[in-house]
Order: sequence, then C-alpha cells, then structure tokens
Amino acid sequence: MKKLSLAMALLLTPMLAHAWPWSMDMANQISIKPQESVDSANPGMNPFPKRSVPVSGTATSSIEVKDKDAAFKLVNPVPADTKSVDMGGRLFAIYCVPCHGKSGTGDGLVGEKLIMKPFNLTSSNDMHPWNSKDYPDGYIFGMMTFGGVVMPVYAIDLSPTERWHVVNYIRKVLQAPVTAAAAKTK
Ligand code: HEC
Repeated sequence: MKKLSLAMALLLTPMLAHAWPWSMDMANQISIKPQESVDSANPGMNPFPKRSVPVSGTATSSIEVKDKDAAFKLVNPVPADTKSVDMGGRLFAIYCVPCHGKSGTGDGLVGEKLIMKPFNLTSSNDMHPWNSKDYPDGYIFGMMTFGGVVMPVYAIDLSPTERWHVVNYIRKVLQAPVTAAAAKTK
C-alpha cells in the first residue's frame, strides 16, 4: 500500500509542478489575451477604441426617473392604441405571466413557488386595501422600473417605452374586462 501511494505521488508530482493550479491551464497558455497588447514595446492592456464602451449602461431607470415616488407621478407618454396594447401584451406574456399569470390575477407557475405571492393586477384584487384601478400608470411603471420586495427589476430588460406598452396592456386588457364584469354584477 505504501509503495502504491509513493508511486502515485511520484506520478502526480511533475503534473502538480507544471500545471498548478490546473484549473487555469486553458487561461494561462501562450496566447494573446482579450484586450492584451500584441506590441511587445507597449505591453499591457490595449486602450478601448473610441465609442466602443457603452457609457450610459443598460439600465435606463436612472435616466428615466429617480425612484418609485418620482415614477408614481409620471404621466404615461404612450397612447394606449391597439399597437401599443398588442406590444404590451407580447411583453407581458414574456416577462410577467410566469408570476402574475395570463389573467394577471397572480396565478403564474413561478408565482406559486414564491413565499410572497405576486399581486393580483386586475381590478378584482382584494390582497390590499387599494384598488388596482385607482393607482396611477406611474405606479405600475415604477414597479417594473425598480421592482418590489420580491418582484424583480425590469429596467434592464424593458426600455421605458416598452414598460409603458405593458402598462397600457394591463389597463386596457387585464383591468378592463373585470371592471366591466364587476359593473354588470352590481
Ligand atoms: C418573479 C415573479 C414576478 C414577476 C416575473 C413579475 N412580478 Fe410583479 N410582483 C411580484 C410580486 C411577488 C409582487 C408583490 C409585491 C412585491 O414584490 O413587492 C408583485 C407586484 C406587482 C405590482 C404591484 C401590484 C399592486 O397591486 O400593488 C405590479 C404593478 C406588478 N407586480 C407588475 C408586474 C409587471 C408589469 C411584470 C412584468 C414586467 C411583473 N410584475 C413581473 C412578482 C413578480
């Protein structure tokens, strides 16, 4: 047994000596690294070509609006025409349905797994004292822009205009039929 482990150790030694840490083998080969200078007289990192780095970043929230309170007061600049509502519906299906469900009542498959249930976005919401119909468009915009306690931020995935399309969809499609139905039963 002793002999065997000695043999193993001997076998492993050269490998250890040459390649430690071996997880870096691929990175540490003789090759030019990304952004590394090929000019041996000027080693180090190549300067970035002009205008190749996006300075404004991807999250648009800080450009659009400061915080949720400011978002609350925003006036929806996108008219809720068919085109906007259609686009909003498509985006809602991608980004919101997993939690809020197709109907918007909060019965999405992912939402089921959350400790804090996604709020019902339709007018039938009885999860909190305020009526979904009564909060301004800016509130929905703010939720998407800054996220909630559990709800993720969508300022990276959706441009401000796309967020307003989603707002229009929630207003015209998710909240409208329930309002009409509720009005009928009254
Ligand atoms: C990962 C699950 C998840 C996704 C995806 C999600 N939400 Fe939410 N949402 C929540 C949860 C949970 C809440 C409860 C409040 C909180 O998290 O602070 C919520 C609350 C809201 C509220 C507040 C409603 C109220 O009555 O106060 C709005 C508006 C909202 N979401 C809109 C959206 C929109 C629009 C999308 C798609 C862009 C979306 N959410 C995607 C989980 C999600």
